[in-house]
Amino acid sequence: MMNRSNFLKSTASMAGILAFGGISKASEMINNNAQEFVSINEVPLITLNNGKVIPQLGFGTWTLTEKPEQHVREAIEVGFRLIDTAQGYQNEAGVGKGIKDSGIARKDIFLTTKIGPDVMRNRTVKQSIDTSMEKLQTDYLDLMLIHWPVKEHIQETWGIMEDYVNKGLIKSIGLSNFNPDHIDDLLKYAKIKPVINQIEIHPTFSNMENAGRTLYRGIPVQCWSPLAAGKDLDDPVLMELAKKYNKSVAQIILRWDIQRGLLTVTRSTNVEHMKEDFNIFDFELSAVDMSIINGINRNERTYEKNDPDSFPW
Ligand SMILES: NC(=O)c1ccc[n+]([C@@H]2O[C@H](COP(=O)([O-])OP(=O)(O)OC[C@H]3O[C@@H](n4cnc5c(N)ncnc54)[C@H](OP(=O)(O)O)[C@@H]3O)[C@@H](O)[C@H]2O)c1
Repeated sequence: MMNRSNFLKSTASMAGILAFGGISKASEMINNNAQEFVSINEVPLITLNNGKVIPQLGFGTWTLTEKPEQHVREAIEVGFRLIDTAQGYQNEAGVGKGIKDSGIARKDIFLTTKIGPDVMRNRTVKQSIDTSMEKLQTDYLDLMLIHWPVKEHIQETWGIMEDYVNKGLIKSIGLSNFNPDHIDDLLKYAKIKPVINQIEIHPTFSNMENAGRTLYRGIPVQCWSPLAAGKDLDDPVLMELAKKYNKSVAQIILRWDIQRGLLTVTRSTNVEHMKEDFNIFDFELSAVDMSIINGINRNERTYEKNDPDSFPW
């Protein structure tokens, strides 16, 4: 029986190895728990393909336009150290204030934001990055993502993002809502390889093909709307599993993400929920129960228009 500390090590190492070390190395890791491991507040740290580390679990801020500073500060107080925002969420200033108000040093927070589709089409990417940093009250970003694959403008946008990495103003750059063919196009010209792809993944939309193919290209996958924005929380199968493990449905879903070597960002405005969502490292779902959750998939996006090939925004 693997003890808890070794289990944490192996989960984190697996995700990193799967992401950029190849399949055979990933298999080797399953039997090798001696790897060095450093964790912040028990959340495993995944090593990205540029050597930087990212917490496997983070706090998302989509829709948090009312008092974002309060929710972000509370999430940090609960223990979250990865904060995910976007230019399009219109809350970067509040997110920046929440981080400041928390009293936790900037270097101990992993801050992600995203370049919006309009900004790419309007060709104001550079200005928008400067504005994001100003609003977030920071002189560097840990991670900047292309929010949606606006095909005609990806190459130009990526080049500007690479310039910011070269200047040391952005530490890592990555993708969101990219399908494998979008990734393959980008890899033809990218000088810097994307460090993650953040995509929609939850039990009713497990998105297995995209996740697997993204990982195979050496890019870790981060789940967005892991709880289907709340819609998967009353699934009867998940409710039964929650009872079995004496955990909440949210905890079961987030644990399912973590055990598959994926990163995940979840959102809440309720401190008790934040605590639940953060406390998912003291139990393990059995292999069979993981398969049962895989079986819930109905290929149902939270919103049908969220298709990376035809989104209307
Ligand atoms: N890249 C993209 O295109 C994209 C798109 C969507 C989202 N995202 C990112 O992904 C993050 C997460 O997705 P999401 O915002 O859709 O959130 P989510 O984590 O899928 O679901 C949030 C909902 O679940 C509820 N909830 C959370 N924890 C709970 C718990 N323990 N018990 C009961 N209810 C709970 C919340 O309600 P309460 O507030 O009442 O707790 C809220 O209604 C976003 O915030 C954003 O950062 C990215």
